[in-house]
Amino acid sequence: MQPISRRRALQLGGLGLLSAVVGGAGLTWQSAAGFEPAPGRALTQPDVLRSSGGRLRVTLRAAQGPTRVAGREATTLSYNGGLPGPTLYLQPGDRLQVRLVNDLGDPTNLHVHGLHVSPLDNGDNVFIAVQPGESFDYDYQLPADHPPGVYWYHPHHHGMVADQVFGGLYGAIVVGDPERVAVTRERVLVISDLSLDGSGQVAAPPAMARMAGREGELVLVNGQSRPVLTARPGERERWRIVNACSSRYVRLRLDGQQLQLLGVDSGRYPEPRDVDEIVLATGNRADLLVTATAGSSVLESLPYDRGGMGGMMGGGSTSSGGGAIALATLDVAGAAVAALPPLEAQPAPRDLRGLTVAGRRELIFAMGMGGGGMQFTIDGKAFDPARVDQAVQVGTVEEWKLTNASSMDHPVHLHVWPMQVIAEGGQPLDEVRWRDVVNVPPGGQVTVRIAFDRYPGRTVYHCHVLDHEDDGMMGVLTAT
Ligand code: C2O
Ligand code: CU
Ligand code: CU
Repeated sequence: MQPISRRRALQLGGLGLLSAVVGGAGLTWQSAAGFEPAPGRALTQPDVLRSSGGRLRVTLRAAQGPTRVAGREATTLSYNGGLPGPTLYLQPGDRLQVRLVNDLGDPTNLHVHGLHVSPLDNGDNVFIAVQPGESFDYDYQLPADHPPGVYWYHPHHHGMVADQVFGGLYGAIVVGDPERVAVTRERVLVISDLSLDGSGQVAAPPAMARMAGREGELVLVNGQSRPVLTARPGERERWRIVNACSSRYVRLRLDGQQLQLLGVDSGRYPEPRDVDEIVLATGNRADLLVTATAGSSVLESLPYDRGGMGGMMGGGSTSSGGGAIALATLDVAGAAVAALPPLEAQPAPRDLRGLTVAGRRELIFAMGMGGGGMQFTIDGKAFDPARVDQAVQVGTVEEWKLTNASSMDHPVHLHVWPMQVIAEGGQPLDEVRWRDVVNVPPGGQVTVRIAFDRYPGRTVYHCHVLDHEDDGMMGVLTAT
């Protein structure tokens, strides 16, 4: 890669790129006069909107306005004034109808991340643009065999996705379990990050931070800074954790507590799995059981190195720098409760490894100079909504090699159909692992299989570092 001239660099963003400070703090930029979070309040839950009789009808109003962020008044984007937006609680087989009202100054739309629903018409169709002042009625029909788990919704208007998600537009979706999982209580934990200026306005990231994928200074849980959760010893909680950060990966620990992972994304393990650390790339979710042990434990996110620009752009790093970030505290005290019944085994997950593969493809994720700036590409091409990059046949299984030819991680996401990871770096996996966001490390290769069981239509796959997606790292898939 050629070193870039100063003139060329200025064309990349016109934001005084070369003076952007991207030193030891990685891609977290400091806002001028810091917004001081008010930490330590009890964790709150987003409003819950629950389906009944097989249907949920909601209005989501996207607007800029006053919100509570980290215990203080701020001005952000939000759905229905909440950060995060309401949790949509569904059952397999439900119909979800969302009226999206766009009170933003820019076009937007809605994507239901991870849901296995049709991308046609007013389904999960990211090619729709809802203009300022307009509204649109989405209608999603979940199949009766929809996998239970935690999903989420966010805008997907190409070119503005990172700004709108970072600005505050996200919310959780829960699809309930056919078999009951016995717990004392459930909580939703939506993790997001944000930088605010001294007056509580969302701070725009410098061009350099966009290239690496912006990471906000404040890392929030349900819009709060270091909230407190309380439980009694022996209680078993179920935490539905969403990584709604635009670019940041979280590497979660909760030392001193017993953690069991029920699943990640729509993938459910047959038996809950003991873990002490969970890495969630942007877009991933964890369905986690926490069995409370007396004492106080900190939910922290450890640094994760997403790589950097390599020799390009002065070599800015994407790692969150510094040490662990405290996200929340779990205080466990009081009389111990009686032990809960043991968990029932979950149905064995589907395994595509024994099946006939109808097509094999390789997708190459790269970055380089071109088109008047840094470009993020798949197979050498930047996103073009008018082009079809992959045409697949409904009813077939395909095998895709995801190759990362760049010096940064790219979390690869496909809409509508989950992916089964079958090999990493050429090494076959010895477990059944389903994901809808699959991380591909620098220089790495991950092999997935996809069952295009149903749903003809047109949709996208992309890097879920949302700045990369906005910069072109997205392709179009049609299923016929
Ligand atoms: Cu969560 Cu296409 O994205
Ligand atoms: Cu998605
Ligand atoms: Cu990327």
